[in-house]
Parts: sequence; C-alpha cells; structure tokens
Amino acid sequence: MAGNAAASGDDGPKLWGGRFKKPLDSEMEKFNASIDYDKIMWSADIDGSIAYAKALAKTSIISAEERDKLCQGLELVRNEWKGGKFQIVASDEDIHTANERRLTELVGDVGRKLHTGRSRNDQVATDTRLWLRDRILAISAVLKEAISAFVEQAKVNQTVMLPGYTHLQRAQPIRWSHWLLCYASMLKRDFERLQEVYKRTNVLPLGSGALAGHPFDIDRDFLAMELNFDGITLNSLDGTSDRDFVSEFLFWSSLTSTHLSRMAEDLIIYSTKEFSFVTLADEYSTGSSLMPQKKNADSCELIRGRAGRLTGHLTGWLCTLKGLPLTYNKDLQEDKEPLFDAVETITSLIKISCGVIKTLTVNPDKMKAALSPEMLATDIAYYLVRKGVPFRDAHHVSGECVQLAESKNVDLDKLTVDDFLAVSTKFESDILQIFDYEKSMEQYNAKGGTGSKSIKWQIEVFTDWLKQN
Ligand code: ARG
Repeated sequence: MAGNAAASGDDGPKLWGGRFKKPLDSEMEKFNASIDYDKIMWSADIDGSIAYAKALAKTSIISAEERDKLCQGLELVRNEWKGGKFQIVASDEDIHTANERRLTELVGDVGRKLHTGRSRNDQVATDTRLWLRDRILAISAVLKEAISAFVEQAKVNQTVMLPGYTHLQRAQPIRWSHWLLCYASMLKRDFERLQEVYKRTNVLPLGSGALAGHPFDIDRDFLAMELNFDGITLNSLDGTSDRDFVSEFLFWSSLTSTHLSRMAEDLIIYSTKEFSFVTLADEYSTGSSLMPQKKNADSCELIRGRAGRLTGHLTGWLCTLKGLPLTYNKDLQEDKEPLFDAVETITSLIKISCGVIKTLTVNPDKMKAALSPEMLATDIAYYLVRKGVPFRDAHHVSGECVQLAESKNVDLDKLTVDDFLAVSTKFESDILQIFDYEKSMEQYNAKGGTGSKSIKWQIEVFTDWLKQN
C-alpha cells in the first residue's frame, strides 16, 4: 500500500504522501484544500477519468477488464454525487483526489492504476475546460434570449422618440428602438466573442502529464474524441500551465457586464421622476423601509454594482498569473473561485437584464415632452447644406441663429423667417418646416441611423442573425 501513515490525517493517507514524514499542519490543510469549491466540477472530473481509463487500456498499461472495472466504479462514484450521497472526507484535498479515493474504496487496488501517467496538473486543466465549455453553451443560450428581448421591444416601440444624449446633454432626437438596438448590438458582439472563447476553451490538455508529457504513448487524439474536444494542446508545458481560457472568460464577463451596467445606468436615469421616460416593472423594483412613496430601480443598481465585482475577478486573477514561472504552480488553483463566481454572476446579470427589458413600460409622452427645439440646431445647418452652403459655414450660421434666439429669450422654433433672413440671406420661407422632430429623424436613413427605414433594416439584420445562431 502506498501513502504512508506519516502523511495521513485521521481520515486517511494523502495521495502524494510517500515522501513525507509528518502530516500537514491543520491550518495548512484547510489553506491548501480546494474541495469546498472545486467539487462543483465532479461530473467533468468523472468524464475525464472515464476517457482516461479507456485511453490507458489502448496502451498495455491496463487490461480491458481493468478498464471496465474502473469505468463501472467511476459510474458508481457519479451516482453518489448525483444522489447527493458522496461523502467528502478531511483528506480529500480537491475533487480529483476525492473521486480517486472513493473509486479505490469501491473497486479496490485497480483504482490505484487510474492515475498512471496523469498528473493533477493536466487533470485540473482538463476538468476546468470541460466544466467551462458547458457553462459557455448555457450562457450563450441565455444571452441570445436577452438579445431577442431587446429586438422584440424595438419592434414594438419602433416609432417612439426621445432625446438622444451626448455628455448627458440633449443632442438630437432619436427613436427608443434605436436605443434598444444599440444594446442589442453590444450583446451580439458579446455573443460572438463568447464563441471565440469557447473555441480556445475546447482544446484538450490531458496527456500532458505533470509537465513533460505522457510516458506511455497515450493516444491524445482518442482522448479528445472521447471528450468531444475540438483538438489537443500542442505542448505539454503549455497544456498544464495555460489558463488563457480562464482569463478570456473573466475578461468576457467583465466586458459583458460593463455593457449591461451602462444600460442599467441609462435606465436608472430614465426612470427617475425627473425623466420618467420609463417605468420599471414592480417585479424588478423594490421599496424603501422608511419612505412609502419610493420605488427604487434596485435591479439596475445591482446590475451596475455587480459589474464591478466581475472586473475585480479579472484584475485579481491577472495579478495572480503575471509572475508565475513555468509550469504549474499552486497559485493556479486561485482561478477557481473567480471563475465559478463569474459564471454565476454573469448568468444572473443577463437574466435580470432580460427580465427588466421584457417588462419595462415606456412612456412616449414623457419622452416626447423632453425634446426641445434647440436639438434641431444641426438641422438648420443641414437645411443650408441642402441649399449649397458648405457645412462649416452652415454650422456657423446655425450657431448665430441659436445665439439670436437666446438673446431674444425665445425657443429656436419661435424665430421668424425675417429673423433667419437677418442672419443669412440663404434662408427661405420653408426654414420653419425643419422644426418637426419626426421629419428630423427621417433624415437619418443611411444604414445604422435612427430613421425608420434604417431601424427596420437593423431589426431585419438582428432577426436573421437570431435565426442563424
Ligand atoms: N486543486 C489543484 C488546482 O486546482 C489541482 C492541481 C494540483 N496539482 C499539484 N501539483 N499540486 O490547481
């Protein structure tokens, strides 16, 4: 029997106990263990081990009967996890040691052959990739649902208009559907980026051993096929130490949450009494324990707030990674908690954002009331451009009109034709016709603009894309 008494705690020997005389300090034991959180990967760990047993049997290291015993035993371990019956013991450092310990208890000494040529270094890299790739698929589905919620709302609210802002100052009139499709565009990019992360996650490191490679000529292509990986890592040093897929996912969730946070911020502003452009559904708002009148946009505030946590995970993890010498170092275990939390957090941020958008009430009258004639100052310039005036000059003339209105203390649309003529003889009596928000927006029908044709085109592009993805 390997695993000596010296390195055993009360609950049994450590799998690496051979060269140790004394057991771990009890505080160190806790400090070292990752089982509390990495047990979440139990299924991936068992899948990886079943494939590995099959691959070992293809070499002469284990027989077909031994392979079958190992595979059956691993299914028994799987059933224990599934049924909530798996008993973790104090010496189970992580999910890999826990499953192997239990397997050996169930099938006897043959269990001790499973780890031949494998290291927890290639095992953990494999498990994490297996685990994450399934989560990426689940997140992709949730994200797609959110994108279609934005597109649906854009269809329903195609013509509603509101002020568009730059510097949070009224800039030009836009359509609410345009706002919605802006966020749909960000999320579409997020979706596409996530598929890229998936590609680089779905590469198999198993068979890299501890760092130098596999000593028994294991068929890594077979392993990749068994586990549905798109390919294998090229270099065993890289296979065991690469965590780019973790870094990329953390960056991805940080950026996606940043998009959702900006949306949340818009909605927080737009739902204030001062704006009243939108009303958040009761299901996504909370009240105050003191002020009975309050209806707070807590859903949006939490979306905004939690985005900070995700960026924290990314920066914390990159700090951990940046100084690591090749190859495996225990620091790499620190990828788990941020990764697991990022998956959970970004999933709920997307789901809540989707719910907020689906249930949001839009108040078109309030949006329209917030439009003001000075937002059409650019249109005065465009009017002159259409009469042949160079844009720079037209811009200047329009600025003078704004100044004139200000000096007369009237809105821009209250200037008379004579007032306009006093500024420039290029104006004609049709100048007053530009003061029409609907008409103003209809200028922007070049693809991508806020004009109704462009909005229809955008919706079509999204609808096709949603069908294809
Ligand atoms: N729990 C470890 C991790 O997450 C598994 C790998 C341990 N490898 C080692 N050489 N100690 O990284």
